[in-house]
Amino acid sequence: MKPRHFLDLSDAGGDALAAMINDAIDRKAARTGRPKGAPDADRPLEGHVLAMVFEKSSTRTRVSFDIAIRQLGGSSIVLDAATTQLGRGESVADTARVLSRMADAIMVRTDDPAKLTEMARFAAVPVINGLTDRSHPCQIVADLLTVVEQGKPLPGLEVAWLGDGNNVLHSILEAAALMRFNVRIGAPPGYEPESAFIALARAAGSRVTLTADAAEAVAGADVVVTDTWVSMGQEHTEGKLAAMAPFQVDEALMARAKPDARFLHCLPAHVGEEVTEAVFEGPQSVVFDEAENRIHAQKSILLWCFGRLREQRG
Ligand code: CP
Ligand code: NVA
Repeated sequence: MKPRHFLDLSDAGGDALAAMINDAIDRKAARTGRPKGAPDADRPLEGHVLAMVFEKSSTRTRVSFDIAIRQLGGSSIVLDAATTQLGRGESVADTARVLSRMADAIMVRTDDPAKLTEMARFAAVPVINGLTDRSHPCQIVADLLTVVEQGKPLPGLEVAWLGDGNNVLHSILEAAALMRFNVRIGAPPGYEPESAFIALARAAGSRVTLTADAAEAVAGADVVVTDTWVSMGQEHTEGKLAAMAPFQVDEALMARAKPDARFLHCLPAHVGEEVTEAVFEGPQSVVFDEAENRIHAQKSILLWCFGRLREQRG
């Protein structure tokens, strides 16, 4: 049987994404107060091993996937590319075939999305996108879970993105298409997201606006999101930082959003660059709920890959 890969949000689709969020809410509530490494009562993935391949740095993705698979009854192995044969030139295809004989699922964090699709092409077990330069779908499952937890329904939600048009924004746009919310992008010229992601969201009926005016982007928003101005592997240029400066999320910008708007950031943050300390530490910020929710979202993604989400079990 063909494995069920999670390379991007549209691999799952809107119904499965909604099911992932619901299952995450239920599982999170059911284990309140338990030690973080203790398995859920039903141990749905008992004995399953997740191999995690990192060609880029990670704190949240690495730890949350490890804790997620433990809570589902399984375990994980971390492979840092620098200390594996992949880092010495062994092919992605051979790595995929070997890991498929030794593990039950593979998570990959890499630069080039072509490496991820190559891994999926040759793997006989589910492959999960743990971030590429193009997208970061696991992050957005956690973000949507956080927004729903805050009492905000997704259809019709107004999400403002400020700053660099990067991999995280691409996955937000993909989610907008699936969950029918709107995205207002405030980005300097030259740093907009790939037009294909905007087209995808618009084709699904989402309103996507693009402006170089930060105040216009956040006006009336339910959620304000930003990310680092310089992603992993990108060149750090003074010109880019100067172009991004007007898009720093500060209290004046947050005041233009709805009074009960929430601030999200996938982290790691560069406080004083893309966001001020007052906003990052302020009452509208839910960034540490968002970080914790990586665990709960990851569990739903793993369960979906194995056909074990509640809705899939029938
Ligand atoms: N947000 C996120 O993916 O964090 P890490 O880079 O620490 O995994
Ligand atoms: N856009 C960031 C996200 C980090 C989780 C990066 O790619 O570095």
